[in-house]
Parts: sequence; structure tokens; C-alpha cells
Amino acid sequence: MEFFLDTADVKVIREFKETGLINGITTNPSLVAKSGKDFKKILKEISKMIKGPISAEVTAIDCKGMIAEAKILSNISKNIVIKLPLTEEGLKACKILSSKKIKTNVTLCFSAAQALIAAKCGATYISPFVGRLDDIGENGMNLIREIKAIYSNYKNIKTKILVASVRTVDHVIESGMIGADVVTLPPATLAKLYKHPLTDKGLKAFLDDWKKTNQKIL
Ligand code: E4P
Repeated sequence: MEFFLDTADVKVIREFKETGLINGITTNPSLVAKSGKDFKKILKEISKMIKGPISAEVTAIDCKGMIAEAKILSNISKNIVIKLPLTEEGLKACKILSSKKIKTNVTLCFSAAQALIAAKCGATYISPFVGRLDDIGENGMNLIREIKAIYSNYKNIKTKILVASVRTVDHVIESGMIGADVVTLPPATLAKLYKHPLTDKGLKAFLDDWKKTNQKIL
């Protein structure tokens, strides 16, 4: 399973790149607004650091406008993936861009039917938002199970399941158990993946005992 980092903060990306765990980046207009920086400059900077896919979302709401924006965003770097909303216009744009071999990430997916349609339109990635479904009392991970079951029935579906709106370590574990292709993680959630109180406690005990030996490895 690949890990993408869900942020538009270049500093944070630089920091997490060091872990060697980051396969790609997802951004959205809210994350860009939060960064307070110029979108195109952010994309340029990220593409210098990350060789994997970088999702950049269009903001036009009509197909023609989306295609025009996609052209500009794609020109920034060859690893830009065009993020499109799961609307009728977004799906039309997805079909056009897919036919031109431009990679797409269809976002704001909240149902299996939507995921099926996105795959039929040739989406490279589908982004189901699990956390936002949990927020309204539904089970977000059930949606991932449904999409996985549908996609697995058809060899010609190449669309990858990119689990988005991830809030917990359990979302990541379940994604792995279901066999999702990618999880996009907020930096704080990624950091939680390797944290365990027993690891900290165990390490402290080992180091305390080591001190008593008066030995040095180096
Ligand atoms: C994914 O591409 C989105 O940017 C993101 O995962 C949305 O997460 P949120 O629901 O926490 O805003």
C-alpha cells in the first residue's frame, strides 16, 4: 500500500520526505488556503522534492474550465495528477483527460456508485472520503470494502483506490486489510503510525540497562 501525504505545506513535506515513507502528495483548495502560499509555486516546490504523483485540484466547476486549468497544472510538472470533483462536469473532464493519458484523481467520493462511474470514466485514482462519512454517523471503511469488491470483479478496471479523509491509525490498518492501493495521510496521522507507548517504554528500559554495562559500541 502506498502512502501519500495530505498537505500543501512544503516545509512539512520536506520534513516527512526524510522518513522515506512518502510515495506521493495530495493537495486540495482548503489545504492551499491553509498554507497561505501561491498554488502554482507550491506545486513547483513539491515537484522538486517528490518524484511520485502530486494531486492538484481544479477549481472550475464546468468541464471546459476544468480542462483549461488541467492544462496549466499539468505543465508545472510531469508528475502532476489532476484532481477533479465527482460531479457530472468533473466526470466529463475525467473522460477527456484520461483519453489524453493525463492522470486523474476523482475526489469527494461518498458512494460505491460514484466510484463505479469514476472508474468507467477512466479515473487513475478514486478518492473516497472515509473520515467525513464517519463524521455523519456512517462507516467510511465500509465504502472502501464496497469499492474494492466492485473493482475486483472487473479486470479492465485499473482505477486505484486512494483512501482519503483519513483520521485514525485504524483507518490505515483497515485500508491495508481491505487491500486499498493508497492512503493519503495528514502529517499528524502518519507520525502516529510508528508511535507506540510500549516501544518508548521498552527502549528506555534497554538504554537504562545498557548504561549499567559501561560499554560503548562506537
Ligand atoms: C484528499 O485528497 C483530501 O485532500 C483530504 O483527505 C480530505 O480530508 P478531510 O476530510 O480531513 O478534509
